[in-house]
Amino acid sequence: MVKICCIGAGYVGGPTMAVIALKCPSIEVAVVDISQPRISAWNSDHLPIYEPGLDDVVKQCRGKNLFFSNDVEKHVAEADIVFVSVNTPTKSQGLGAGKAADLTYWESAARMIADVSKSAKIVVEKSTVPVKTAEAIEKILTHNSKGINFQILSNPEFLAEGTAIQDLFNPDRVLIGGRETPEGLKAVQTLKEVYAHWVPEERIICSNLWSAELSKLAANAFLAQRISSVNAMSALCEATGADVSQVSHAVGKDTRIGPKFLNASVGFGGSCFQKDILNLVYICECNGLPEVANYWKHVIKINDYQKARFVNRIVSSMFNTVSGKKIGILGFAFKKDTGDTRETPAIDVCRGLLVDKAQLSIYDPQVSQDQIQKDLTMVKFDWEHPVLLKPASPTALKQVSFAWDAYEASKDAHGICFLTEWDEFKTLDFQKIYDNMQKPAFVFDGRNVVNPDKLRQIGFIVYSIGKPLDQWLKDMPAVL
Ligand code: NAD
Ligand code: UDX
Repeated sequence: MVKICCIGAGYVGGPTMAVIALKCPSIEVAVVDISQPRISAWNSDHLPIYEPGLDDVVKQCRGKNLFFSNDVEKHVAEADIVFVSVNTPTKSQGLGAGKAADLTYWESAARMIADVSKSAKIVVEKSTVPVKTAEAIEKILTHNSKGINFQILSNPEFLAEGTAIQDLFNPDRVLIGGRETPEGLKAVQTLKEVYAHWVPEERIICSNLWSAELSKLAANAFLAQRISSVNAMSALCEATGADVSQVSHAVGKDTRIGPKFLNASVGFGGSCFQKDILNLVYICECNGLPEVANYWKHVIKINDYQKARFVNRIVSSMFNTVSGKKIGILGFAFKKDTGDTRETPAIDVCRGLLVDKAQLSIYDPQVSQDQIQKDLTMVKFDWEHPVLLKPASPTALKQVSFAWDAYEASKDAHGICFLTEWDEFKTLDFQKIYDNMQKPAFVFDGRNVVNPDKLRQIGFIVYSIGKPLDQWLKDMPAVL
């Protein structure tokens, strides 16, 4: 029986390995982590991450050929293939702070693999890493390996949160990069055979190591760039009376462009886009390519602009002050169908409103109060731009309360903001919400979840990203 061990039981390691175990009953899969609470949760009925369909997959194989354990060294020593799926956040201090990837966790995992290995292994980069990381890992492994053969592969993960299981079951492609030596090609073939249990062969792409590493950063940069492009258009739509949904639809009908990922929003969030673009920017700068670095930096700048613009719209339309006004925050996760709040635009929007002394009542179906409090007070590393939206002070947290549902969050509120596109928000009873709010009642839709015309008929003043403005908003010019 082939044995796989995955170091890192997070958003990627957990679901990816669960799907490998499900699709390859002949392979034993161990997912290991240094975090005890995480592993306990993976072994319980309350998995540590919310992901539609994940419970089902885990239930089918846990205890059969899928195991979650804190015994990292034992499982690594026994494995034929070791995936490394540890976190690779942006460095917050020292050389490259604010941009470069922090590879501390990766390096310590590599040193441990070298230490405990007694047989040849394929080591697979699953984490997103800078180009040429495989070379550094190879050096660590070979300098510490006591003659054991390691083959390094790059196999970046393209799943998106909220649709991870469906993405893993039916990936657009699986990318495997390896050394172009006989041993390297053999290792690529071994990993290819794992995926070939369920992924059609033509979707398994093989490349050299550096192409695989760079393709992951490039894919995330392209995706984020699409969102910044449509968000930049959304500002122009508001200024001209065009409707960004209609523009996206018309643009996306061009088969060369395609319809996906053209939804204007309050900004992209998530643990990957900003981090991976900053990483790309740093690599460009290190390679003497400042123009290329600046090009990609602007994708993040537009994203920051979009979040700041949203806050400014709220404040300016409510007579230039939200001080003491209750604002219902509907949705805090960075997208629907996840409880993940990493880099969620809700953090910046809420902080911006707190600086202006708003009273926030926050509701999200999957995010805990504790998590929101942590997010609002956490020191966020400022990468380059002027700080528009400051971290909330512990005293500002007194302005924050938490609601059980959207109705409670909006009761007696002056305004409500949609910051995550949860499906349940589409079917809210807006007449009931309107009746229970202060007047004039404002809706600020950062996700285009509401129908502005219907809400205006009820009596709301509605601001929807990229949509034609109400007369009210036209009369209250915002500094954007
Ligand atoms: P995560 O923070 O959810 O999980 C990482 C896990 O690794 C943590 O549980 C941590 O305790 C563990 N860990 C760290 N060092 C360890 C060590 N030395 N030994 C054992 N365990 C260790 O991170 P994630 O979201 O799963 O992301 C992992 C990697 O995958 C990152 O490089 C990320 O960029 C990339 N990625 C993430 C996504 C996503 O949607 N989250 C998608 C594609 C790629
Ligand atoms: C992303 C990539 O999609 C995935 O391939 C990669 O492996 C990890 O990073 P993820 O961050 O989980 O996945 O979610 P994604 O669906 O890409 O959304 C990222 C952010 O962009 C969210 O905040 C989402 O709301 C926003 N978004 C997405 C938009 O604002 N508009 C869109 O049209 C699409």
